[in-house]
Parts: sequence; structure tokens; C-alpha cells
Amino acid sequence: MRDAILKRVSTRTYNKQQISGEDVKKINNILVKYESVKGPFDHMFKFKFRFNDLKSQDGKKIGTYGVLRHVPGFISGICDNDFENLVDYGYIFEKIILELTKENFDTCWLGGTFKRKTYEVKLNGNEIVPAITPVGYKAQKRTMIDRFIRKTAESDNRKIFCTLFKDYNTFEPLSDTLENPIMQCLELVRKGPSASNKQPWRVYLNNDEVLFYLKRTQRYPSDSFPYDIQALDIGIAISNFTVGLEHLGYKYSFYKDNKAKTIDFSEYVLTVKIDK
Ligand SMILES: Cc1cc2nc3c(=O)[nH]c(=O)nc-3n(C[C@H](O)[C@H](O)[C@H](O)COP(=O)(O)O)c2cc1C
Repeated sequence: MRDAILKRVSTRTYNKQQISGEDVKKINNILVKYESVKGPFDHMFKFKFRFNDLKSQDGKKIGTYGVLRHVPGFISGICDNDFENLVDYGYIFEKIILELTKENFDTCWLGGTFKRKTYEVKLNGNEIVPAITPVGYKAQKRTMIDRFIRKTAESDNRKIFCTLFKDYNTFEPLSDTLENPIMQCLELVRKGPSASNKQPWRVYLNNDEVLFYLKRTQRYPSDSFPYDIQALDIGIAISNFTVGLEHLGYKYSFYKDNKAKTIDFSEYVLTVKIDK
């Protein structure tokens, strides 16, 4: 899974290869596995694969405003539209994306550029489909719009380590000395995807406690957006951090510290406690 974090990249341009029956089985096995995994706030979700053609059981293609090309299938999930559910959705959906990456599928987190109405016909009350992913095999060359989106979001770049990660007591930036295992795990957070590559995650280290904060991007997304997309980003960050911990053989638990400080206009979300 750690290698999958380093390999994953948003793919919006697919080749025309269809997904074989064998590959559909692989995808469904991954989805079934993650339907019984809980996020840090204890929620679980249902996920679904569907082909993207008029002959599929849903009988519709999913509109993506011209952003995606030749997508053979999509994966989606359903969650309640509140902050903690969205963090958990981000956490689990990222693990699904990494498992798919491990199996050589290409993907792209999509929280905005898909016609959500197509998906949201049968939902109850407060439920939404916060984000979906195309699944398939990348084309050799990206389309112009794909390249344009990557360039606008500066998708190949990330903020520098010391901007994102600091000491909880002194607020001194942490240095990316990668001999330190915790810094290795934070580097995996830094490599992760986020909506429009805004990277709103901030992490403060207090000995064996790692406090995750959300530094919201002002006026992003627009007020008319139907949910808190940056809650997904935090879930992704916590997910990648735990992938690192598991890779290095650490045990950990999650808890909410009701006395956590408010720091630098950021919102405290959750603490990961590392058991030595
Ligand atoms: C929660 C979330 C929502 C996203 N929504 C979209 C989207 O609607 N359309 C899109 O083209 N890319 C979307 N992205 C992809 C980001 O633009 C991309 O992850 C970021 O630019 C970094 O590039 P990389 O994934 O190739 O590392 C989304 C990513 C995340 C994490």
C-alpha cells in the first residue's frame, strides 16, 4: 500500500480497453473487503462498481463535463452528509483507490466534475455520493483538458514539508529527516491527493500523538457546493498516515481530544495515538 501511494496519480484519459470479467471480480473483491472496514469515526459504507455504457444495468453513461475520456467503469459509495462521515468516506475510499492502484488500475478522485444527479436518484434523507472514481487503464497521452487541469492545480507539486507539519508545543516546523519513521509517514500524507490540490491538511506532533487539523481554503469550494469536500481531504491524509504506520509495523488508535488547541485558524479533527 505504501508503494501504491507513491505510484498513484489522477488519470482522466483512459485507453479504450474494456474491463474483463476477471478484473470486475478483482474490483468487487476489493469493494466487499472495504465494506466492513470502519473509518476513524466508526462509519462504514457501501460501494458499487458499474460499467460506463448504455448497455450497463443502469443504462446510462456518467457525464463528466468533458473532463474524462473513454472511462470503462466507475466506483461510487454512499454516505451521510456530515463532517465525520465525510472524513471516514475519504479514509476508506482512499484505501480502495490504493488497492486498485496496487492491482494496476488507474483512477481519479472525482468530487466535483461528475453529474451527481445520475447517481443520486435513489438516496434517502441526508445521504449523498460525495466522490466517485473512474476505473480503467490509462491512455498513452493525456487530453488537452487533462493537462490543463493538472497545470492549473499544479498537481505535480506539493507544499513543502515544514509548512504542513509542526511540533504541537513549540510550533517549530518538523524537518523531513526521513530516518525518523514518523516523518516517513508524514511524507506519505504530503504525497496524497486533495481536491484541486489545495492540501488543507496540517499535522502537529506531540510525542506519540499526531494531531490532524484542517486549514480550510478560503472561499473554496463555492457556497453552492453540496458538501464539505475538504473533509474528504483530511480522511485521505489520515488514511495515508496509517498506511505508513502499518508498513513500519506500528500499532495505533484514534481519539478525539476535546481539549486540543485551536491553531493558526485551523480546525482540529482527530488524534492518531501511536503505540510503541
Ligand atoms: C476529494 C477530491 C476531489 C477531487 N475532485 C476532482 C474533480 O472533481 N475533478 C478532477 O478532475 N479532479 C479531482 N480531484 C483530483 C485532484 O485534482 C488531484 O488529486 C490533485 O490535483 C493532485 O494530483 P494527483 O492526484 O495526480 O496527485 C479530486 C481529488 C480529491 C482528493
